[in-house]
Amino acid sequence: MSHTEWIDLRSDTVTKPTPAMRRAMAEAEVGDDVYGEDPTVNLLERRAAEILGKEAALFVPTGTMGNTIAVKLNTRHGQEVICEARSHVYNYELSMLAWFSGCLARPVPSDDGVLRWEDIQKEVRPLSPYRADTGLIVIENTHNMAGGTVTPIETMRDVCRRAHEIGLRVHLDGARIFNAAVHLNCDVRELVADADTVMFCLSKGLCAPVGSLVAGTAEAMARARLYRKRLGGGMRQAGVLAAAGLIALNEMPQRLAEDHGNARFLAEHLCRIPGIRIPHRVETNIVIFDVTGTGLAAAEFSQRLKAKGVLCNPVDGVSLRLLTHHDVNRQDCERAAEAFEAVARRV
Ligand SMILES: Cc1ncc(COP(=O)(O)O)c(C=O)c1O
Repeated sequence: MSHTEWIDLRSDTVTKPTPAMRRAMAEAEVGDDVYGEDPTVNLLERRAAEILGKEAALFVPTGTMGNTIAVKLNTRHGQEVICEARSHVYNYELSMLAWFSGCLARPVPSDDGVLRWEDIQKEVRPLSPYRADTGLIVIENTHNMAGGTVTPIETMRDVCRRAHEIGLRVHLDGARIFNAAVHLNCDVRELVADADTVMFCLSKGLCAPVGSLVAGTAEAMARARLYRKRLGGGMRQAGVLAAAGLIALNEMPQRLAEDHGNARFLAEHLCRIPGIRIPHRVETNIVIFDVTGTGLAAAEFSQRLKAKGVLCNPVDGVSLRLLTHHDVNRQDCERAAEAFEAVARRV
């Protein structure tokens, strides 16, 4: 089977730039962004700040770099960072909390990926002769490994208000914040308003080939620019990438509801297959499903799906994760649903 025929549900990061993005990239006005002279990057940063309602934003190559810079901005060496137990910053960023910022993660488990103040409060520590103090709380919205679940605006506000009352900062890992805003049917500004810093990705459901933004105060972003350079993220004629990013930001959030509809369609189908269970609410474009009852291990289930042209990765021994996105349509999802059923029933 050739690669173009796969129905690729492994991630929304597999999306390719759209024809409009490719045209914009070819025609982009560029300059040296390390000198602050790339007009397209400058435009993207201003537009991102405007959409998020923050003073300034900074274009970075990846979400991981954006989170790394934000943690550094909001902490001192030796502090603790409270984050959800399955969060990306804790599990999938090669211990950057420790490596770059000298911080220790204090993971807090939650059933649904939503960190509430009652859970956080128990883990907040003041500095003492034996204990490091908490410097930062990281909220992940949507929460990837909890199945794309959404932290509601009220919860976000409550966590930020209480954190600020006791001098703690809040960083929002909003890699998929536009998915959250679409689910809540709200302006993304409302969702990020109280966070000290926000990171979001252009290169996931929004289809840009590369790039994320970090946003916050102008003073924080001036410092962020230096950390980006330290990390080797000073890019030159990055306007070629920012041009695609502008289309991602301006035009792609509107279509995310379609991905959410496709995820719900697949989830409803999966729930009807004997032996398959979905342990979370399906709110956005991610579905994690447990195949224990089919008698197949997740890796075997994944291999058998691949033989039927569907790519879907295991996340542990018993579960697989699928993501819907721009490059799979409803017809692809119908074919994928048939493949899930055939694998589960060993047809
Ligand atoms: C929630 C979350 N945060 C951060 C990242 C990191 O983004 P990147 O892969 O661009 O480094 C990801 C990537 O999947 C993610 O899902």
